[in-house]
Amino acid sequence: INDFGVKNEPVLSYLKGSAERADLEKALNETANKTEEIPIVIGDKEFKTGDVRYQVMPHNHKKKIAKFYYADAKLINKAIDVACETQKKWDKTPLNERLKIWEKAADLMAGKYRSKLNAATMLGQAKTVIQAEIDSAAELIDFFRLNAFFLKEATKYQPISENPKVTKNSMRYRGIDGFIAAVSPFNFTAIGGNLAYTPALIGNAVIWKPSDTAILANWVNFKICLEAGVPPGVVNFVPADGPVFGDTITASPHLAGINFTGSVPTFTRLWRQVGANIDKYRNFPRLIGECGGKNYHFVHPSADIDTVVNGTIRSAFEFCGQKCSACSRMYVPESLWPKIKDKLIAQRNQLKVGDPTDYNSFTSAVIDDKAFKRISGYIDHAKKSPNLEIIAGGKYDDSTGYFIEPTIVQTKDPQDKIMVEEIFGPVLSVYVYPDKDIQKTLELVGNSTAFALTGAIFAKDTQFLKSAIEELKMTAGNFYVNDKSTGSVVGQQPFGGARLSGTNDKAGGPHYILRWGNPQAIKETF
Ligand code: ALA
Repeated sequence: INDFGVKNEPVLSYLKGSAERADLEKALNETANKTEEIPIVIGDKEFKTGDVRYQVMPHNHKKKIAKFYYADAKLINKAIDVACETQKKWDKTPLNERLKIWEKAADLMAGKYRSKLNAATMLGQAKTVIQAEIDSAAELIDFFRLNAFFLKEATKYQPISENPKVTKNSMRYRGIDGFIAAVSPFNFTAIGGNLAYTPALIGNAVIWKPSDTAILANWVNFKICLEAGVPPGVVNFVPADGPVFGDTITASPHLAGINFTGSVPTFTRLWRQVGANIDKYRNFPRLIGECGGKNYHFVHPSADIDTVVNGTIRSAFEFCGQKCSACSRMYVPESLWPKIKDKLIAQRNQLKVGDPTDYNSFTSAVIDDKAFKRISGYIDHAKKSPNLEIIAGGKYDDSTGYFIEPTIVQTKDPQDKIMVEEIFGPVLSVYVYPDKDIQKTLELVGNSTAFALTGAIFAKDTQFLKSAIEELKMTAGNFYVNDKSTGSVVGQQPFGGARLSGTNDKAGGPHYILRWGNPQAIKETF
């Protein structure tokens, strides 16, 4: 709870016999036993095209849980027209009305639809119950509540009026005329909701291209928002092929912004297209991107071993290392390595990898075939390379689901691609450094990748902590001391990275919503 009485949504525990567990079981059954048909929604109309797609369960890829349709360029252009028309009316809706809708949506997510959202996330994205609960319940709800709070707070600012009898100064918060394109990832249902609905809250109209592999949970979110009162056309649900979508939105003179989470190449492509079309636009499009990382855990000889091991196992392997914040490279001093190695392997060996609906599973399958091939490619590289040794895991099997064992690789080369490139899967690479080379290794942490999303240092030595925090300040937008690199909470640790990790606009922080605003300062003279 903060000074203003705002608090995060509590995370439920789903203990045996609990009401939430019974609810969830029901929702899981309903979700698993059908293939939800998801139309394209533009304004108040639904569309189906001949380009049919399916979302399958990652852990059981024969099972289709959603059928959906790709919009072609013509439909995307239609969505642009509808969004631009809607924006004019929506922007006039009083702020209090908009805030009430967002609060209602959050309440529906927290109550009536919590299980449905979690079931769609668990089955569609292979998240265990706890991973779904912190995403499609707590974080999603927090984004809706906290962004409403941040907007309300921002609008309280009263500009100085020196002589109110003669002049009055005020500020109006409005959206940008045109449309915002939201392109969301599979790994957090909550990020989808944030990318689409935060720009909408401040008065924009949005065209949301959900991820194919998270579409069911995003669809449930979209329907809840309609029920809460978000008017048709404010957010348009437009699944599409990535390049077709990108080409079409960036060609429109009405593009007002892109809210993106995904890969560096895709964001770079969009940015380049915006640049190429810059003379066409009525506004300079706002570009916000969150693009991944190569997140580190740096261990100092004074670190507490159990804190390091517990945090690293969770950060590297929860949700199969598919959080943008997941630890993927680790630096350990020689003096601590024997103990850390034994404990890492012992804990890893206890992790159950299985069905996400099994309450004993620690983690499940990776998202799709493409991810399976990419990640297993890195494991094959480790098997072949003389500098690398797989010290735990290393097996993979996609016969029923896209399963990859949590894998730990020790490397003699801190610059090997396994220590430098984003893998986005359950592979942890460890470089063991001579204790005398702390300084040299710290430099490596900062210089060996182009990313700067999350990082953590583990140490008890306060003198070292002080200097390392300063030294590593450019290496991570979200930085942790004696804690794992994952698990940022909306309103507590605003999230985002610098360098190639993104534009660092800090989702879940007070300034994020204002990036989507088009405020007007008004001076009235009497
Ligand atoms: N909130 C997410 C995490 O930090 C992105 O893991």
